[in-house]
Amino acid sequence: MNIKIISLETVDSTNEYLKRENHKPITVVTANHQTGGKGRRGKRWISPPGKGLYISFLFKKPELLSNIQIISLSTAVAVAKTLNVLKEGFTIKWPNDILFDGKKLCGILPELSGNRLIVGIGINLFHSKEELKGTEYPATSLKISGIKFEKDKLTLNLIESVINYFERTVNGEFEIEEFEKLSVIKPGSRITVKRNSGLETVTALGIDREGYLIVEKDGKVERLFSAEISVRI
Ligand code: BTN
Repeated sequence: MNIKIISLETVDSTNEYLKRENHKPITVVTANHQTGGKGRRGKRWISPPGKGLYISFLFKKPELLSNIQIISLSTAVAVAKTLNVLKEGFTIKWPNDILFDGKKLCGILPELSGNRLIVGIGINLFHSKEELKGTEYPATSLKISGIKFEKDKLTLNLIESVINYFERTVNGEFEIEEFEKLSVIKPGSRITVKRNSGLETVTALGIDREGYLIVEKDGKVERLFSAEISVRI
């Protein structure tokens, strides 16, 4: 397998960099600083110099995948498993937020660009509480959580794990049960769903094979697609 790794000092966004440049799959780009880090649903991702792991992967868009939602979930498993080696206790909030002690520590942003799939991952490493104050959810970093790590080693382990899970997902070998084991949303959990139309409290029933969250309210069952909503627990 041919993997190219690029390290940048400063970039607007590692996802945007991969969209602009004509690199071949598989290319991995990291940056020490993002001036326009992007989060899900048009939010920004706090990316001060030297504080986080900002990394994006360029893959060839898998032909047989009906949507990229399942990649979102399998990447979250890859990241959570890598972090759980440092210390047990990392969980996933559907679709792909990684939590520690119930606080968000990592976000994942998959995007399609033509026939390429870009998967961006941001992990809060050295952020102080002050630096994370602007988030609309409780957030933490490895440092705040008192977790010891070595950045270079963590980065290499993460690259290996994310590529491994991507390949397994494309080959149909990723089992949704792996996600369910790490998920904080269990069947029966009451959750609040935030859509453009407002907030709604529903009961989670489970996650289907394509990665949709199945919820129920007043007897009505619905499949939720990750790009359109955010979930509170
Ligand atoms: C989220 O909102 O949870 C997703 C955050 C994704 C952030 C990462 S940092 C590396 C890559 N480049 C970006 O601009 N965003 C992603």
